[in-house]
Amino acid sequence: MTMLPLLLLLPLLAGQVLAHFEVQVPEQPVVALYGVDATLDCSFGQVGPFNLSDLSVFWQLTDTKRSVHSYYGSQDQLEDQGESFANRTSLFPAQLASGNASLLLRRVGVADEGSYTCFVRVDTYGSAALLLQVAAPYSKPQVTLAADSGNLRPGEEVELTCVAYGGYPEADVLWQDGAGRNLTDNVTTSVVANEEGLFSVRSILTVVLEPNSTFSCRLTNPLLGEEGHASVTITGQNMVFPPVALWVTVGLAVCLLALLIALAAVCRRKIKESCEEARAAEEAKELEEEEAKTAMTPLKS
Ligand SMILES: *[C@@H]1O[C@H](CO)[C@@H](O)[C@H](O)[C@H]1NC(C)=O
Ligand SMILES: *[C@@H]1O[C@H](CO)[C@@H](O)[C@H](O)[C@H]1NC(C)=O
Ligand SMILES: *[C@@H]1O[C@H](CO)[C@@H](O)[C@H](O)[C@H]1NC(C)=O
Ligand SMILES: *[C@@H]1O[C@H](CO)[C@@H](O)[C@H](O)[C@H]1NC(C)=O
Repeated sequence: MTMLPLLLLLPLLAGQVLAHFEVQVPEQPVVALYGVDATLDCSFGQVGPFNLSDLSVFWQLTDTKRSVHSYYGSQDQLEDQGESFANRTSLFPAQLASGNASLLLRRVGVADEGSYTCFVRVDTYGSAALLLQVAAPYSKPQVTLAADSGNLRPGEEVELTCVAYGGYPEADVLWQDGAGRNLTDNVTTSVVANEEGLFSVRSILTVVLEPNSTFSCRLTNPLLGEEGHASVTITGQNMVFPPVALWVTVGLAVCLLALLIALAAVCRRKIKESCEEARAAEEAKELEEEEAKTAMTPLKS
């Protein structure tokens, strides 16, 4: 019974003692790019010089208390380090004396996301926690029309699919029509994670087909901002022309035209030739007839 008031008092006492020893970490989440090294900043204000052998630094996961990196007795102590951090962490030894206990975390992965506590002790101790967020850019989105779109008719329902791969965290997908209006009805978006925790996003927009309508898919990574967009235009002929296919089509059309012109030229020559032959034949016939006439003339006279 007498212990209880004392326990309640303890944090207050501790607060007074630690007033001059402050451990500081970024207040905003630290955003690290997937696969890249990240520095988790942590600094402590120590009044006056101190002996490094008196310094202890413990980095741990805030939730599970699992050890990320420990330092005491003037060296790293990694026996109890969490497996997933093996060979991936280091402090900046040259900076320790000046109150910098920052942690270098190499090749950040999705699983590293979370809260990290930096705990520092010299004469007294203090700690602070920061949040690490991981970001990976998505591939450029691609929009396709549902496979069985052989002969589309206006008024028919079609599915447009927008896909993007390998990003993190979950992306926001926004569909817009040609006039830039948001289309939120009839949209189904699903997300699948791969082994590394990176997401593939697939969004399906169902629309009623109208000639000459454009639909675009905009992909936004909440940590990295807008990453890309892609669009399709459904023309009067009910054909889909994604930008690349359009140029292929134009190219084919030009080839076809050239072929037709060549063919026409050949035909014309052939026709001309046969005309000339016909004329030659006619002339020959006329000549024959004339000769016949001249041959007959003496008989007449
Ligand atoms: C600690 O030192 C490292 C390496 O020089 C540096 O990148 C980091 O910004 C420093 N952090 C603080 C809080 O001073
Ligand atoms: C860490 O590095 C050591 C030596 O370079 C190696 O033997 C060990 O397998 C590595 N551990 C991991 C988890 O990569
Ligand atoms: C469309 O949605 C986005 C994101 O939800 C929003 O920022 C934008 O203002 C909306 N635009 C229109 C025209 O409603
Ligand atoms: C959504 O689909 C329904 C039929 O499935 C259709 O009547 C409606 O117009 C569509 N809404 C939009 C905004 O396209």
